[in-house]
Amino acid sequence: MKANARKDGNGGAGNGGASPPLTLLPCFELKAFFATLVVLTLVMAVWQLHPYELLLDSRSAVCPLTATAAAVRLHKSVLSLGIDSSPNLTAFTNPAPKSKLSDLPPRAPAKDPNKRVFQAYGSAAALFVLMGAYRGGPATFAAVGLASKPTHVYGTPWFKCEWVPNANASAASPPHPVRAKAYKMLPDWGYGRVYTVVVVNCTFPFNPNADNVGGKLLLHAYYSVKSRRYEKVLALEESPGSFDEARFRPPFKYEYLYCGSSLYGNLSATRIREWMAYHAHFFGPSSHFVFHDAGGVGPEVRAVLQPWVAAGRATVQDIRGQAEYDGYYYNQFLVVNDCLHRYRHAANWTFFFDVDEYIYLPDGTSLDAVLRNLSHYTQFTIEQNPMSSKLCVLDHGKNYSQEWGIEKLVFRNSITGIRRDRKYAIQARNAYATGVHMSENVIGKTTHKTEDMIRYYHYHNSINELGEPCREFVPMPPPGNVTWFEKIPYIYDDNMKRLANTIKNFEKQTIGAIQK
Ligand SMILES: *[C@@H]1O[C@H](CO)[C@@H](O)[C@H](O)[C@H]1NC(C)=O
Ligand SMILES: *[C@@H]1O[C@H](CO)[C@@H](O)[C@H](O)[C@H]1NC(C)=O
Ligand SMILES: *[C@@H]1O[C@H](CO)[C@@H](O)[C@H](O)[C@H]1NC(C)=O
Ligand SMILES: *[C@@H]1O[C@H](CO)[C@@H](O)[C@H](O)[C@H]1NC(C)=O
Ligand SMILES: *[C@@H]1O[C@H](CO)[C@@H](O)[C@H](O)[C@H]1NC(C)=O
Ligand SMILES: *[C@@H]1O[C@H](CO)[C@@H](O)[C@H](O)[C@H]1NC(C)=O
Ligand SMILES: *[C@@H]1O[C@H](CO)[C@@H](O)[C@H](O)[C@H]1NC(C)=O
Ligand SMILES: *[C@@H]1O[C@H](CO)[C@@H](O)[C@H](O)[C@H]1NC(C)=O
Repeated sequence: MKANARKDGNGGAGNGGASPPLTLLPCFELKAFFATLVVLTLVMAVWQLHPYELLLDSRSAVCPLTATAAAVRLHKSVLSLGIDSSPNLTAFTNPAPKSKLSDLPPRAPAKDPNKRVFQAYGSAAALFVLMGAYRGGPATFAAVGLASKPTHVYGTPWFKCEWVPNANASAASPPHPVRAKAYKMLPDWGYGRVYTVVVVNCTFPFNPNADNVGGKLLLHAYYSVKSRRYEKVLALEESPGSFDEARFRPPFKYEYLYCGSSLYGNLSATRIREWMAYHAHFFGPSSHFVFHDAGGVGPEVRAVLQPWVAAGRATVQDIRGQAEYDGYYYNQFLVVNDCLHRYRHAANWTFFFDVDEYIYLPDGTSLDAVLRNLSHYTQFTIEQNPMSSKLCVLDHGKNYSQEWGIEKLVFRNSITGIRRDRKYAIQARNAYATGVHMSENVIGKTTHKTEDMIRYYHYHNSINELGEPCREFVPMPPPGNVTWFEKIPYIYDDNMKRLANTIKNFEKQTIGAIQK
């Protein structure tokens, strides 16, 4: 199991640097007053020369950092005294929040009794919570994280990227940082809660680490276009010599990558074991599986995944720290975007679906052949075969508890023509951000006409059933007959059942017999 470079749990950078150096205020005196006035005037002058619109302008997307950088830093520290953009000194009477009661300056009586003061205490959602930042090509990077949803809905936060090369001791001049325009995507379709998912794309016009001396990618997260207040985030570090251009060109390490969404709740280790064996067989040796443990990987689930992790076929990422940040369903939109960018150039195709879903190809076709047919698309979605997770065939000669889920859950909901959730696969190098059911941020074509080529069997909720899934037994229906259960017509479908022995043998050969 690889540890994530920067986990949610670390709190992200949004919390850093937020408390202003207020100790200055109580000893406010005339000298300091004039000194501040001078500094403010200077800052305003610099500002006139360098408005933020300029930084947003694509023509000035990259500019070496010069004296203005220092000015921005200076300005930042001035701003954190609680002044807004106008040099109005009355702002000084409005103290910014403090953490210790004893440090609090007495609340200055306002000169105008009708002038109300708004005093803030504590901080709510962070401006930005970094989960991971990744190189997405020779000149492009993506930072994946969370951010306060109300700030993004009602405010105007924005980002700027900066590459700071490592210092070269033998070079005469210090290295020149370069800046790049950033654009952000909010890929969770408004599903976010306190936090929404943000993917920041930093694209430089050239490789900022072309000489491979290494360096740092910094993200400047601005609170608003109306103020110059920002947080500086160390998004990524590249060590000397580590940039390898070949990594971004085919052939990639794997043909297929699985990005799983957040695993939570009590999961059935038996079902996970079966899912893993099925898909390790389905995708073949040139595939890799990435799971995200948001609390669902208990000791038993870990034990069934362990042989696959040891064999290099699977990775389990611990994302339990995400619980600190209230997002949509265990932050699954965050997790899929992190996985997309982390493994953007690791595989030809990246699949996104859940552990109660099984990808299936009609008899006689191979995954290679299907994907050759789809190779002109960046993305395709996959239609589901909804299965009952309770209904089984009554057969007194059988011991159901010894059968795999796909062997005994053989009733397919036969209602057609209604819209159901789809799952999808993408050529990740052409995607900029992604969602749970498809990506809306890709270049290239998307197709949904895949139902004759590839589908998935969906055993809804079977993964959360720790006991025996078979809870209703019905006689084997005559061929083509429907079985009504809970007002839904089901037809017998043993496509998956017929694969079970192959999968069991494959599992035995690959990771040895499992005693269960
Ligand atoms: C500063 O604030 C005072 C009182 O609120 C107001 O009368 C004055 O116009 C402001 N000055 C500037 C430069 O905004
Ligand atoms: C960022 O966006 C550009 C296009 O605007 C794209 O070419 C690049 O691949 C993207 N980078 C990442 C890491 O998504
Ligand atoms: C450091 O600078 C010197 C002089 O400019 C150059 O010859 C050398 O290759 C640089 N080192 C690296 C690691 O780039
Ligand atoms: C993956 O990409 C490589 C290199 O482009 C290609 O040779 C191979 O056929 C591809 N495999 C699949 C399954 O698309
Ligand atoms: C998981 O199961 C245990 C024991 O069966 C129970 O105590 C616990 O509350 C369950 N947790 C969840 C999240 O359902
Ligand atoms: C590929 O597409 C062609 C034409 O649409 C179709 O006839 C063929 O069956 C497809 N092959 C697979 C493996 O789906
Ligand atoms: C069915 O199999 C389970 C697990 O192997 C076993 O515990 C149980 O006794 C068996 N039941 C019957 C009726 O044979
Ligand atoms: C299904 O079985 C019932 C009862 O055995 C029968 O009445 C019905 O005609 C059958 N339907 C089909 C489609 O075979």
